[in-house]
Amino acid sequence: MEFIEIEPGKRIPAIGLGTFRLAGKGCIDTVKNAISLGYRYIDTAQYYGNEKNIGQAVKESGISRKEIFLSTKIHWDNMDSKKQAYDSVIQSLADLGTDYIDILLIHWPKGDIKETLHAMIQLQHESKTKFIGVSNFTVQLLEEALKIAPDIAFNQIEYHPLLSQDKVIGYCKANGIRIIAYSPLAEGSKDILNNPVLENIGKRYQKTSAQIALRWVIQQEGVIAIPKAASIEHLQENIDIFDFKLKENEMAEIFGLHKGLRVLNPEHLAPEWD
Ligand SMILES: NC(=O)c1ccc[n+]([C@@H]2O[C@H](COP(=O)([O-])OP(=O)(O)OC[C@H]3O[C@@H](n4cnc5c(N)ncnc54)[C@H](OP(=O)(O)O)[C@@H]3O)[C@@H](O)[C@H]2O)c1
Repeated sequence: MEFIEIEPGKRIPAIGLGTFRLAGKGCIDTVKNAISLGYRYIDTAQYYGNEKNIGQAVKESGISRKEIFLSTKIHWDNMDSKKQAYDSVIQSLADLGTDYIDILLIHWPKGDIKETLHAMIQLQHESKTKFIGVSNFTVQLLEEALKIAPDIAFNQIEYHPLLSQDKVIGYCKANGIRIIAYSPLAEGSKDILNNPVLENIGKRYQKTSAQIALRWVIQQEGVIAIPKAASIEHLQENIDIFDFKLKENEMAEIFGLHKGLRVLNPEHLAPEWD
């Protein structure tokens, strides 16, 4: 596993495990398998309804909590007031069976963002979260949020070889905000998995298109990827990307792919994208 330094002494794995749509025993088994394969970062959300499963899996993994990086996200329905947001995180902590979260995010820019950020700042002061961040925030939303919470350290956004996020990534980079790329395989889209450019580059390294896509994402400065995988084969494949490096021209070739595939765009939650 490669790590990205966030600040001196604090580092985050370059690849984490996404857990959207995993629940119950399947979730527990997948998270335990992932940890035994070497994953040390697990991403969840109040919305996913699996925080208890993840808490149990981490406990049963035999790996110390300190070695695991956990991110969770505040549900938009819990963002009406500072108290509601705060209390929801206390519940997440209980469900996850831990007294701190590594990264606490706002899931979607919906509800009272200001009140929610105030709750998150308080939680950070109380050491109930190490870092705070947002998800699905555009440049304009980030500008607003940073006025309230200058310590925002992450923005989790959809990012893969078929979606340009140049504007928001450029802004984040300039403001010291790390990117967590969700749906880095575009939800397992054939457009990624059977992409001729990715396949062709993959042949040079004996890697799959999925591995090339993930390598391209994490080879960008300050970008982390959280692919979801249920099968052991996919879990293994997605962290077997640290024994090669894409050349500059290969990175450029992937940057040059046709962009415009946004797999997640819920009408009731999504902002006007950059
Ligand atoms: N903040 C947000 O609003 C937000 C939104 C969406 C997602 N997320 C987070 O990001 C995570 C990942 O995104 P995602 O789940 O939407 O999609 P994804 O990671 O892009 O794709 C997951 C799909 O790809 C398949 N897959 C995984 N590895 C593969 C491989 N090596 N070869 C072929 N297929 C492979 C998986 O199959 P199997 O499961 O069968 O292995 C699954 O069907 C989520 O789980 C969640 O934690 C956050």
